[in-house]
Amino acid sequence: MTAIHLRPVNWADRHHLRMWRNDPVTRANSLSHDVVSQQEHEAWLAASLAMPNRKLVMIERASTPVGVLRFDAAGHGKIEVSINIAPTARGQGVGRRALARCTSLALQYWPEAAELFARILPGNDASLRAFQRAGFVGDKGADRACDEQCDAAPYVVLRLRL
Ligand SMILES: CC(C)(COP(=O)(O)OP(=O)(O)OC[C@H]1O[C@@H](n2cnc3c(N)ncnc32)[C@H](O)[C@@H]1OP(=O)(O)O)[C@@H](O)C(=O)NCCC(=O)NCCS
Repeated sequence: MTAIHLRPVNWADRHHLRMWRNDPVTRANSLSHDVVSQQEHEAWLAASLAMPNRKLVMIERASTPVGVLRFDAAGHGKIEVSINIAPTARGQGVGRRALARCTSLALQYWPEAAELFARILPGNDASLRAFQRAGFVGDKGADRACDEQCDAAPYVVLRLRL
Protein backbone atom coordinates (compact mmCIF):
# COMPACT_ATOMS: atom_id res chain seq x y z
CA MET A 1 0.00 0.00 0.00
CA THR A 2 1.20 3.50 -0.86
CA ALA A 3 2.34 5.76 1.95
CA ILE A 4 0.06 8.48 3.19
CA HIS A 5 0.81 12.17 3.34
CA LEU A 6 -0.82 14.61 5.79
CA ARG A 7 -1.45 18.33 5.22
CA PRO A 8 -3.79 21.01 6.60
CA VAL A 9 -7.26 21.07 5.07
CA ASN A 10 -8.02 24.11 2.92
CA TRP A 11 -11.10 25.63 1.33
CA ALA A 12 -10.56 23.73 -1.93
CA ASP A 13 -11.15 20.49 -0.01
CA ARG A 14 -14.75 21.38 0.77
CA HIS A 15 -16.31 19.13 -1.90
CA HIS A 16 -14.42 16.03 -0.77
CA LEU A 17 -15.22 16.72 2.86
CA ARG A 18 -18.94 17.14 2.23
CA MET A 19 -19.13 14.03 0.07
CA TRP A 20 -17.45 11.94 2.78
CA ARG A 21 -19.51 13.56 5.54
CA ASN A 22 -22.78 12.71 3.80
CA ASP A 23 -21.81 9.13 3.02
CA PRO A 24 -24.44 6.87 4.63
CA VAL A 25 -21.87 4.76 6.51
CA THR A 26 -20.22 7.89 7.89
CA ARG A 27 -23.59 9.25 8.99
CA ALA A 28 -24.56 5.99 10.63
CA ASN A 29 -21.30 6.02 12.58
CA SER A 30 -21.35 9.71 13.51
CA LEU A 31 -22.74 11.29 16.63
CA SER A 32 -24.82 13.51 14.33
CA HIS A 33 -26.66 11.60 11.58
CA ASP A 34 -28.12 14.47 9.55
CA VAL A 35 -27.37 15.11 5.87
CA VAL A 36 -25.45 18.39 5.59
CA SER A 37 -26.39 20.85 2.82
CA GLN A 38 -23.72 22.63 0.82
CA GLN A 39 -24.54 25.89 2.57
CA GLU A 40 -24.34 24.33 6.04
CA HIS A 41 -21.16 22.54 5.16
CA GLU A 42 -19.44 25.63 3.81
CA ALA A 43 -20.42 27.65 6.88
CA TRP A 44 -19.07 24.85 9.08
CA LEU A 45 -15.80 24.64 7.13
CA ALA A 46 -15.25 28.40 7.08
CA ALA A 47 -15.79 28.54 10.83
CA SER A 48 -13.66 25.46 11.44
CA LEU A 49 -10.71 26.83 9.46
CA ALA A 50 -10.80 29.96 11.64
CA MET A 51 -11.09 28.19 15.00
CA PRO A 52 -7.86 28.04 17.03
CA ASN A 53 -9.15 25.05 18.97
CA ARG A 54 -9.89 22.95 15.84
CA LYS A 55 -7.46 21.53 13.30
CA LEU A 56 -8.47 19.65 10.16
CA VAL A 57 -5.87 17.50 8.49
CA MET A 58 -6.22 16.01 5.00
CA ILE A 59 -4.94 12.50 4.44
CA GLU A 60 -3.60 11.95 0.93
CA ARG A 61 -2.41 8.84 -0.85
CA ALA A 62 -0.58 9.25 -4.15
CA SER A 63 -1.56 12.96 -4.12
CA THR A 64 -5.26 12.07 -3.87
CA PRO A 65 -7.37 13.07 -0.85
CA VAL A 66 -8.52 9.88 0.89
CA GLY A 67 -9.67 11.04 4.31
CA VAL A 68 -9.67 13.63 7.02
CA LEU A 69 -8.58 13.84 10.65
CA ARG A 70 -10.21 16.36 12.97
CA PHE A 71 -8.69 17.53 16.24
CA ASP A 72 -10.74 19.52 18.75
CA ALA A 73 -9.12 20.92 21.85
CA ALA A 74 -11.70 20.34 24.56
CA GLY A 75 -9.90 22.04 27.45
CA HIS A 76 -7.69 20.74 30.27
CA GLY A 77 -5.19 19.33 27.74
CA LYS A 78 -7.77 16.96 26.25
CA ILE A 79 -7.96 16.70 22.47
CA GLU A 80 -10.76 14.90 20.66
CA VAL A 81 -9.73 13.03 17.53
CA SER A 82 -12.21 12.17 14.77
CA ILE A 83 -11.53 10.48 11.47
CA ASN A 84 -13.39 9.90 8.23
CA ILE A 85 -11.89 7.89 5.40
CA ALA A 86 -13.26 8.19 1.84
CA PRO A 87 -15.68 5.32 1.18
CA THR A 88 -13.49 4.05 -1.68
CA ALA A 89 -10.36 3.97 0.51
CA ARG A 90 -11.74 2.16 3.57
CA GLY A 91 -10.36 -1.13 4.77
CA GLN A 92 -6.97 -0.52 3.17
CA GLY A 93 -4.97 0.57 6.20
CA VAL A 94 -5.37 4.32 5.63
CA GLY A 95 -7.20 4.96 8.91
CA ARG A 96 -4.71 2.93 10.91
CA ARG A 97 -1.76 4.73 9.34
CA ALA A 98 -3.27 8.18 9.83
CA LEU A 99 -4.17 7.52 13.47
CA ALA A 100 -0.66 6.25 14.13
CA ARG A 101 0.44 9.84 13.47
CA CYS A 102 -2.20 11.63 15.51
CA THR A 103 -0.07 11.94 18.67
CA SER A 104 2.71 13.84 16.93
CA LEU A 105 0.19 16.00 15.09
CA ALA A 106 -1.71 16.88 18.25
CA LEU A 107 1.50 17.77 20.09
CA GLN A 108 2.60 19.89 17.15
CA TYR A 109 -0.64 21.90 17.41
CA TRP A 110 -0.94 21.85 21.21
CA PRO A 111 2.39 21.11 22.93
CA GLU A 112 0.55 21.09 26.27
CA ALA A 113 -1.80 18.27 25.18
CA ALA A 114 -2.09 15.57 27.83
CA GLU A 115 -4.70 13.21 26.45
CA LEU A 116 -6.30 12.28 23.14
CA PHE A 117 -9.76 10.78 23.14
CA ALA A 118 -12.27 9.50 20.62
CA ARG A 119 -16.00 8.89 20.94
CA ILE A 120 -17.08 5.85 19.00
CA LEU A 121 -20.50 4.33 18.57
CA PRO A 122 -20.71 0.70 19.70
CA GLY A 123 -20.65 -1.56 16.66
CA ASN A 124 -18.22 0.61 14.72
CA ASP A 125 -15.64 -2.14 14.86
CA ALA A 126 -13.39 -0.68 12.17
CA SER A 127 -13.09 2.56 14.13
CA LEU A 128 -12.59 0.83 17.48
CA ARG A 129 -9.89 -1.33 15.97
CA ALA A 130 -8.17 1.54 14.15
CA PHE A 131 -8.00 3.66 17.32
CA GLN A 132 -6.86 0.68 19.41
CA ARG A 133 -4.09 -0.01 16.90
CA ALA A 134 -2.93 3.59 17.48
CA GLY A 135 -2.68 2.93 21.23
CA PHE A 136 -6.07 4.21 22.40
CA VAL A 137 -7.62 2.20 25.20
CA GLY A 138 -11.21 2.14 26.22
CA ASP A 139 -13.59 2.46 29.04
CA LYS A 140 -17.16 1.49 28.37
CA GLY A 141 -18.55 4.02 30.80
CA ALA A 142 -20.31 7.06 29.45
CA ASP A 143 -17.95 10.03 29.57
CA ARG A 144 -20.18 13.03 29.09
CA ALA A 145 -17.50 15.61 29.88
CA CYS A 146 -17.06 16.80 26.30
CA ASP A 147 -20.60 16.43 25.23
CA GLU A 148 -21.79 19.73 23.78
CA GLN A 149 -22.27 18.68 20.15
CA CYS A 150 -23.50 15.19 20.89
CA ASP A 151 -26.99 13.75 20.95
CA ALA A 152 -28.07 11.19 23.52
CA ALA A 153 -26.58 8.14 21.76
CA PRO A 154 -24.33 6.06 23.99
CA TYR A 155 -20.76 5.85 22.80
CA VAL A 156 -17.50 4.32 23.85
CA VAL A 157 -14.64 6.61 24.82
CA LEU A 158 -11.14 5.52 23.90
CA ARG A 159 -8.21 7.44 25.36
CA LEU A 160 -4.55 7.84 24.74
CA ARG A 161 -2.60 9.54 27.52
CA LEU A 162 0.43 11.46 26.27
C1 LIG B 1 -13.47 3.71 10.78
C2 LIG B 1 -12.43 4.11 9.76
C3 LIG B 1 -11.81 5.44 10.17
C4 LIG B 1 -11.32 3.04 9.76
O1 LIG B 1 -10.37 3.39 8.78
P1 LIG B 1 -9.99 2.35 7.63
O2 LIG B 1 -8.92 2.95 6.82
O3 LIG B 1 -11.23 1.93 6.94
O4 LIG B 1 -9.45 1.12 8.50
P2 LIG B 1 -8.09 0.31 8.32
O5 LIG B 1 -8.08 -0.33 6.99
O6 LIG B 1 -6.94 1.17 8.70
O7 LIG B 1 -8.29 -0.82 9.40
C5 LIG B 1 -8.14 -0.58 10.79
C6 LIG B 1 -8.42 -1.85 11.55
O8 LIG B 1 -9.83 -2.11 11.51
C7 LIG B 1 -10.06 -3.37 10.90
N1 LIG B 1 -11.24 -3.19 10.09
C8 LIG B 1 -11.33 -2.50 8.93
N2 LIG B 1 -12.60 -2.52 8.46
C9 LIG B 1 -13.29 -3.26 9.35
C10 LIG B 1 -14.64 -3.63 9.47
N3 LIG B 1 -15.54 -3.26 8.55
N4 LIG B 1 -15.03 -4.39 10.53
C11 LIG B 1 -14.12 -4.75 11.47
N5 LIG B 1 -12.82 -4.40 11.44
C12 LIG B 1 -12.42 -3.67 10.40
C13 LIG B 1 -8.85 -3.68 10.10
O9 LIG B 1 -8.66 -5.09 9.93
C14 LIG B 1 -7.76 -3.08 10.94
O10 LIG B 1 -7.41 -3.88 12.02
P3 LIG B 1 -6.03 -4.71 11.99
O11 LIG B 1 -4.98 -3.67 11.72
O12 LIG B 1 -5.94 -5.30 13.32
O13 LIG B 1 -6.16 -5.67 10.87
C15 LIG B 1 -13.05 4.24 8.33
O14 LIG B 1 -13.53 2.98 7.93
C16 LIG B 1 -14.15 5.25 8.24
O15 LIG B 1 -13.89 6.42 8.00
N6 LIG B 1 -15.42 4.84 8.45
C17 LIG B 1 -16.58 5.72 8.33
C18 LIG B 1 -16.53 6.89 9.31
C19 LIG B 1 -16.26 6.47 10.72
O16 LIG B 1 -16.76 5.48 11.21
N7 LIG B 1 -15.42 7.29 11.38
C20 LIG B 1 -15.04 7.07 12.75
C21 LIG B 1 -16.07 7.69 13.67
S1 LIG B 1 -15.55 7.48 15.35
